[in-house]
Amino acid sequence: MPMGKENVRVLIPQEELERRIGELADEINRDYSGMEANEALLCVGVLKGSVFLMVDLLKRLTIPVQVDFYQTSSYGSGMTAGEVRLRKDVDLSVRGKDVLLIEDIVDTGHTVRTVLGLLRFRGARSVRLCSLLDKVERREVEVPIDYRGFEIENLFVVGYGLDFDERYRNLPFIGVLETEPDPPSPS
Ligand code: IMP
Repeated sequence: MPMGKENVRVLIPQEELERRIGELADEINRDYSGMEANEALLCVGVLKGSVFLMVDLLKRLTIPVQVDFYQTSSYGSGMTAGEVRLRKDVDLSVRGKDVLLIEDIVDTGHTVRTVLGLLRFRGARSVRLCSLLDKVERREVEVPIDYRGFEIENLFVVGYGLDFDERYRNLPFIGVLETEPDPPSPS
């Protein structure tokens, strides 16, 4: 975790995010174009990081959609690494629905694996995953990403929904949090 004076270096600029999200939306529109008029794609975001992607992606979808959210927490006090807890459940019924899970980043993979399992257990007809970022080097469990924005190196990133200590979510780009060494103390 970064400590000391923080600096944010741009990794993926806003225009690049917008361009890629447009491409993902086109793919999703194409893949679900055969949906019946009385059906809707249930788009489920994982709070809080996915909110920015949800808004920008869903505005570009031309198929009928429904929107809902999960909130999870991982390895807090008294939990072991890889353990994921549900803090907020979806409100809508998942049974028989085509579901698109929307995440900001897949890191170890534990969060999405847990949520994907839950959606299938609840009787979703189909479940696909869209993640803006993929930190593939850090993966501990296998998860198939159907719509992937960008593969990134093993860096701690912030912005566009991603936070460090609940800050930086509002940056319109993806940045890398770096720290400057403390200035030498006067002798
Ligand atoms: P996973 O369960 O290890 O895949 O972790 C997924 C969650 O960890 C994401 O939804 C983020 O909230 C958080 N996370 C992972 N990597 C980063 C990062 O580089 N910056 C900010 N949050 C991150």
